[in-house]
Amino acid sequence: MSKLTTFKELKKIPCESSWFEPYRVAPGVTAIYEPHHFEEVISYLIEGDTSALLLDSGMGLGNIKALVEFLTDKPVTLVNSHSHFDHVGDNWRFPETHLLNLPECVAHLAAGTAQQADDANRAPEALWFDGEPWFDLKTWHTKPCKVVPIEEGHVFDLGGRKLRVIATPGHSRDSLMLADDENRLLFTGDTIYPGPIYAHIEGVEMVPVYYSTVIKLAAQFADYTLFCSHNNPVWEGSALKEIEDAFGKVLAGEVVGSSDPKTEGDTVSYQFGGFGIVLSRQAADLYGAKYRRHYHVVGAIIEHDGKILCMQRPKGKFPSTDLKWEFPGGKIEAGETGPQALMRELREEMDFEVNVREEDYFATVHHLYPEFELTMDTYLCHVANPRFTRKEHVDHCWLPPADMPSLDWAAADFPIVEQVIKSAQGDCPHVSFGGDKR
Ligand SMILES: [Fe+2]
Repeated sequence: MSKLTTFKELKKIPCESSWFEPYRVAPGVTAIYEPHHFEEVISYLIEGDTSALLLDSGMGLGNIKALVEFLTDKPVTLVNSHSHFDHVGDNWRFPETHLLNLPECVAHLAAGTAQQADDANRAPEALWFDGEPWFDLKTWHTKPCKVVPIEEGHVFDLGGRKLRVIATPGHSRDSLMLADDENRLLFTGDTIYPGPIYAHIEGVEMVPVYYSTVIKLAAQFADYTLFCSHNNPVWEGSALKEIEDAFGKVLAGEVVGSSDPKTEGDTVSYQFGGFGIVLSRQAADLYGAKYRRHYHVVGAIIEHDGKILCMQRPKGKFPSTDLKWEFPGGKIEAGETGPQALMRELREEMDFEVNVREEDYFATVHHLYPEFELTMDTYLCHVANPRFTRKEHVDHCWLPPADMPSLDWAAADFPIVEQVIKSAQGDCPHVSFGGDKR
């Protein structure tokens, strides 16, 4: 695996900012890291003898211009690696910025946006910040700015250092990289970074374009040092070959990804060492990429008088779980908590009214079936009234924990059976059996 340098291994430049952390990553190159928002965006200040270039202006939550003026006395030219909100937030503080010449993208960036990003980026948990924020994520948005379009091949001459613009469409249509050929440095933006590489944002037709970009990069820059715009800053250029290889395997159907339950299965992820590739499910289907559906479900360990309710599945579409025994439950729908989903499923499948609370959480199991992938959160529920109507299952029984292994359990449920037995024997002190009946 290509060597990755993390911020922990680098020297932080002392500064007064409570939002940014600047690190020297190469002679004349400073990574400006934003560690307090989950995007973990990185902008780069690249200095020549006479002037400097700032690649991206960050989230726009701190004042990057003030930091840049602290870091260098040289005149600074701003360039955007692409126009996504997390790289252009402080553009408005500069006289102008530069973006690849795609008229629609240039116009969009120049106009700003009334509403910032998506809800995940504006949610309180998006912030990893102990201090009192001076900004409001709810009203946060990209302000208008002046944009100068540039073409591929354009060179920024900083005096003793030249940066060449390379168009790298894929992650976005307007993605560019800057190459410092003399020092063999490549500033990659979001096209290449050590994390989930997003090939799902711009529509299915952009996937082969992204792959072509990666092939071109791997052929030209594998012996460069990469400076990436998220997560960790410095990556060996040989990572380009690894990503090219991975992309090829995904599109040839040689690796199996899993659909993401957080996007209702609309995206499919392929994991490799140190990075991933994300496709839309539509693109995966179109290009023959293989994946398993990933279901996030809840299961109820229902206890009555020291016995546990075991349910037998009907014959269905997945041979791996046909007629196997399981804990009742089902899929978590969008917006539901685990207990809400479980109470709804028990009501729908069994006319069973069970009160489930967050504190009833028992354990989570993850299992890869041949046909699909399952993550199951289980809850331990004591019931006083064990009556229900069996609507979907073919059989059921109440068993003392020690007798449960006599049934032919679904593979995902069996580790939970083992934990239930341990709990009943008192080996798991956080769970008690025969507790309050309700
Ligand atoms: Fe981006």
